[in-house]
Amino acid sequence: MAHEGTIAYIEDIARHEGERVVIRGWLHARRSSGRIHFLTIRDGSGFIQAVMSKAAVDEPSFLRADHLTQETALIVSGTVRADGRAPGGFELDVAALEVVGESADYPITPKEHGVDYLMDRRHLWIRSERQSAVLRVRAEVVSAVRAFFDDRGFVLADAPIFTPAACEGTTTLFPVRYFDDATAYLTQSGQLYNEANAMALGRVYCFGPTFRAEKSKTRRHLSEFWMVEPEVAYATLDDIVELAEDLVVSVVARVLERRQPELRRLERDTSKLELVRKPFPRITYDEAVAILNGKGQRFEWGGDFGAPDETLLASAFERPVAVTHYPSAVKAFYMEPAPGRPEVALCVDVLAPEGYGEIIGGSQRIADYDLLVRRIQEHGLPPEAFQWYLDLRRYGSVPHGGFGMGIERVVAWICGLDHLREAIPYPRTLNRLYP
Ligand code: 4AD
Ligand code: MG
Repeated sequence: MAHEGTIAYIEDIARHEGERVVIRGWLHARRSSGRIHFLTIRDGSGFIQAVMSKAAVDEPSFLRADHLTQETALIVSGTVRADGRAPGGFELDVAALEVVGESADYPITPKEHGVDYLMDRRHLWIRSERQSAVLRVRAEVVSAVRAFFDDRGFVLADAPIFTPAACEGTTTLFPVRYFDDATAYLTQSGQLYNEANAMALGRVYCFGPTFRAEKSKTRRHLSEFWMVEPEVAYATLDDIVELAEDLVVSVVARVLERRQPELRRLERDTSKLELVRKPFPRITYDEAVAILNGKGQRFEWGGDFGAPDETLLASAFERPVAVTHYPSAVKAFYMEPAPGRPEVALCVDVLAPEGYGEIIGGSQRIADYDLLVRRIQEHGLPPEAFQWYLDLRRYGSVPHGGFGMGIERVVAWICGLDHLREAIPYPRTLNRLYP
């Protein structure tokens, strides 16, 4: 049967009210009463109910529709009708239907499946309403991040994935054989190269996949995750905290503005996200320790916060909270010590509310050559691999700083997900490398 009408995407359907359109997609679900088939069709941009009544189509089409299976690829055409009860506000009155690709025994049915079962079929699971909504929010987050930096004069300058040494501690490195006899490591962070780029270009950012051999199974850790990292020449800790705050506010606002249908599908309580405005509360590590002890969590000064500590701390505030001045001993080698108090670092972690924990980690960097040499030694890092990095302190060293924001942490928080594995199309964790 021939299709009449304009090819349309479901997300644009409101623009076609009353018109005849062609939708190319897949059958998500079907129910039938004797004289009408209700077909839920998805095309990647959204879901719509297509109503096929016996009276409106020829007999073979109507009979065919009665046997359509889940995920059959099909093209339907018909007239767009406003319907207040429909989730997207519109339905399609079907005039013609054509099957493009069969789908027998689709493994993900409307019944409950376990997470491992679904993760083994992640390549199909992403077709579901919920998972596709998350991935659309993720795309919006990424685009909001890029727009934020591009609009402010930051230059995108990428960092390599194969690196000669650690950036964030030697315990989570992934070694790779590099040609015949060298070992490379997958990057843990583009920061060190970003610092060089900032000395060349002023304000820069890199944005790409980063890798950590996280040997623990937690809801917050992936072994491959995406991080955006700005770096700014002449920036101090205060500048960095303000930049982090502006970025988070801008990303959340843009998702709220453009992804309401997805947030509704995820049943996200958006009133919590509406609260994400400037200024964020700023506390020092010392104050954070006092808050924890005040809430009955016995916490000793000097340690790093665990996930339960971060959750408890963040629960004292409705907005993301910036925690500064952690003990240098629990942080990376490159962090600038606080003036007059070298046991703490000029660093910041931004903790998201609602138990999502650290979304941003950053600092001012050590500008002094001798101190940086000492730190590289103390951390047992190979000095020869850091000579180029030390050049930045040999030739016109200036105060500077930056941070990294983990995209999956932000997506999990904005979407209200229980686990980071749903915030990326194909998660990589301690025990998952498939599909
Ligand atoms: O705090 P981190 O380790 O900081 C750095 O890598 C700095 N070199 C960044 C910089 O200053 N340029 O990581 C930054 C962020 C964390 O706040 C978190 O959001 C995310 O990266 N992150 C992870 N996300 C998922 N899985 C993991 N294993 C992560 N480790 C860090
Ligand atoms: Mg961190």
